Amino acid sequence: MNRVRLKVNGQEHEIEVESCTLLVHAIREDVGLTGTHVGCLTGDCGACTVLVDGASVKSCSVFAVSADGAEITTIEGLAGDEGLHPVQQAFWDEFAFQCGYCLPGMLLTTCELLDRDQDPDDAAIDQAINGNLCRCTGYASIRSAVRRAATRMAAGDPDALPESQRSESPSAEPPPSA
Ligand code: FES
Ligand code: FES
Repeated sequence: MNRVRLKVNGQEHEIEVESCTLLVHAIREDVGLTGTHVGCLTGDCGACTVLVDGASVKSCSVFAVSADGAEITTIEGLAGDEGLHPVQQAFWDEFAFQCGYCLPGMLLTTCELLDRDQDPDDAAIDQAINGNLCRCTGYASIRSAVRRAATRMAAGDPDALPESQRSESPSAEPPPSA
């Protein structure tokens, strides 16, 4: 067994893992955060995407031991006391998911994209999310959500819609994260 330290969503965790334990399994089973989904386990679907030191990483493609000392952000780390992260809110407002299986990975990939490109065009969006498969929604609404999030974040208004509109929108309940 190997002792591994991970800082997940700002909290330190020290776990014992086998050398062959995948990061996605360590996050779900040892850290106990099940919002990161397991899909293909072959690096194709992107459902397991998390941020590792700010970079989007398919956590089924990384051994937990190789993430020792890393800072990891999972879907559980996006929303704050003030509510949904603007990227979450934009996906909600644009109806950019259905079953939600792809959603945690899609959101974290979007966060990484908007961190390095505050005004991505469609080509940049497509390139960023081309490793994240969605079987339900269609990518047009996902593109719209990414653009909406970019606009809001650029305007320095992370709180999405004004209160009056928020109460009329379906945003009273958060999107599924697990
Ligand atoms: S579960 Fe990791 S890419 Fe599909
Ligand atoms: S919403 Fe179902 S896979 Fe994307």
